[in-house]
Amino acid sequence: MSTDAGKRAAAEAALQYVEKGAILGVGTGSTVNAFIALLAKEPGRVRAAVSSSEASTRLLEDAGIEVMDLNNAGPLDLYVDGADESNRHLSLIKGGGGALTREKIVAGASRTFVCIADDTKLVGTLGAFPLPVEVIPMARSFVAREIVKRIGGQPELREGFTSDNGNVILDVRNLEIAEPVKVERTLNDIPGVVTNGLFAIRGADVLLLGGADGVQTLKA
Ligand code: 5RP
Repeated sequence: MSTDAGKRAAAEAALQYVEKGAILGVGTGSTVNAFIALLAKEPGRVRAAVSSSEASTRLLEDAGIEVMDLNNAGPLDLYVDGADESNRHLSLIKGGGGALTREKIVAGASRTFVCIADDTKLVGTLGAFPLPVEVIPMARSFVAREIVKRIGGQPELREGFTSDNGNVILDVRNLEIAEPVKVERTLNDIPGVVTNGLFAIRGADVLLLGGADGVQTLKA
């Protein structure tokens, strides 16, 4: 099975968590795009969505789904999003698409986070995928030096990329993240860091992994 087919299978499995008429938190990325395409085929299935990126907002609106400001939506029952890596504790690396800050906000505002991915995203130890860190532009070089001092790795500026919040991303290569909660907190303590792509303090509650054997469900 291709990774694309795995993503589609996981997206389809996520539909069972969507209550009719819900206001749904929606993530960003190709797996989520497959999920939005499925929602588009079921008009009225959700009342509205809170989006984690301008890209997802466009797709949701094209699908005829109203996009609400989180400030007007209140707490959300469900957030559906992809991941770049997950371990078996459902701690994630996210932000390959650069939407990590809004994704972390919407995940934090949601009672249940269902993560959808193809099964190649499941790893023993997080860190083979470069860890994204969103940074206020003036702090870029300072934050890069502090990252090396505090956790090691090799921060690299994501060239030609500005986040939806007007910030830059440092991708940190060559990490082996044995203690994701500790690393998430350590990075967030650096002045100038907006947030980082570790979702460990608030990881996923359910991980749906699409692969050749169907969809595997892991729970935190
Ligand atoms: C975007 C993300 C995505 O969820 C992550 O990059 C996975 O993307 P895809 O579904 O395309 O593999 O965190 O910021």
